[in-house]
Amino acid sequence: MIQARTVAEARAWVHGVRRTGARLGFVPTMGALHVAHQELVDCCRSGVDAVVMSVFVNPTQFGPGEDYDRYPRDPQRDAALAAAAGVDLLFLPHSDEMYPHGSTAFVDVGPLGAMLEGAARPGHFRGVATVVTKLVHVLAPDVAVFGQKDAQQVAVVRRLVRDLLLSTEVRCMPTVRERDGLALSSRNVYLSPDQRRAAPILYRALERVRAALQAGERRAAELEALVSQTVGQEPLARMEYVAVVGADGWEPLERAEGKTLVVVAARFGEVRLLDNLCVRVHADGVEPGVP
Ligand code: PAJ
Repeated sequence: MIQARTVAEARAWVHGVRRTGARLGFVPTMGALHVAHQELVDCCRSGVDAVVMSVFVNPTQFGPGEDYDRYPRDPQRDAALAAAAGVDLLFLPHSDEMYPHGSTAFVDVGPLGAMLEGAARPGHFRGVATVVTKLVHVLAPDVAVFGQKDAQQVAVVRRLVRDLLLSTEVRCMPTVRERDGLALSSRNVYLSPDQRRAAPILYRALERVRAALQAGERRAAELEALVSQTVGQEPLARMEYVAVVGADGWEPLERAEGKTLVVVAARFGEVRLLDNLCVRVHADGVEPGVP
């Protein structure tokens, strides 16, 4: 595995690989790598000849008072895990590389970036959209892979790729979970033992939604209430939002129909956790879906 720390080094490596006609895959991360990040690499590898992973804790997607300074950073461990996952190029830029001194240009995807997670974290998706655009511009991958756990991020990236006429294919990989259902996240390390025991309530709430859909419930308000009630029974959890939206346009739905997402965010003390369920709802049943 090669490591690049500057944009120029990354570009030179990409240029060399491209000259051989190879197809390139890309897995953007903020490090603190875990099994889900490694599975993203596996998902990325199909149909490509080389995989680039970036590790960059992107300052512009953190709001004031968020965890930018204390976000877990361990470049050596990340490099070992990336190498074990079969990454070909690990791109570890310094923030001056990604944001040249005095940077003022940003990418804004509009209302999609301002709703739900974007409303809870103003400016977050502007930061995500900006850094993903820059990384995709530098690396010019054929494929980029993102995780369903951050479903709104996937939608934001699809939107910027479409609207900015980028030619990268965006893939979404299903959420990787612990045995008790908790979605893997670099922020799970912040949970106290009690909070950790409480956190799978999000998954259980979504599984109750799945069961309700299978039993024929279609009303979004009822499905949302089911999530609120379930999470409300856990004293250590504080609901932030729950919404039933169309998986492609993120329009709020009154009834679950077609490709549907149920997205939820809750706080466990200071730790915010996200989760979601994606299903395809037909007249004659409900099937698993991926955004
Ligand atoms: P980060 O939180 O490091 O996540 C990197 C990628 O891993 C994202 O696509 C995220 O959705 C995916 N991921 C994390 N946990 C997952 C899980 N349990 N199952 C499936 N996928 C999971 O997301 C970011 O970084 C940043 O916003 C980034 C896109 C790198 C831009 O800075």
